[in-house]
Amino acid sequence: MSETAPPALSSPPGLRILCRETELAEGASRGFPPAPGGFTGLFAVRKDGHVHVYVNACPHIGVALDWTPDRFLTADGAHIVCSTHGALFSIADGACIRGPCRGDALEAVAVTLADGMVLVPEDAGL
Ligand code: FES
Repeated sequence: MSETAPPALSSPPGLRILCRETELAEGASRGFPPAPGGFTGLFAVRKDGHVHVYVNACPHIGVALDWTPDRFLTADGAHIVCSTHGALFSIADGACIRGPCRGDALEAVAVTLADGMVLVPEDAGL
């Protein structure tokens, strides 16, 4: 008996598939590698049913926010937190609400949800 591999996912023109919508649970965050040719990854958070995607670079000094894979949120899940100096960011709009980059914001990435996939512009983070 042979198993059939699931069909390969192909991205619509100009877009990049980050993951299936089902792979990002409510209240969860997840990191993604840079786009081909890039150095800065992305991360996604699902909160109140909405998927938010940001470039994984703290506006303070530009380092990645996560201290361990896929951990971008405070323990209570209420905010995005930078692991380096503890800046807190709004999940809804990426605004820094506390910390050394207060008043600045994460770089938001346009999100498209289609056919059960989370899609972003292929050049996001470049
Ligand atoms: S690098 Fe993020 S708060 Fe300093």
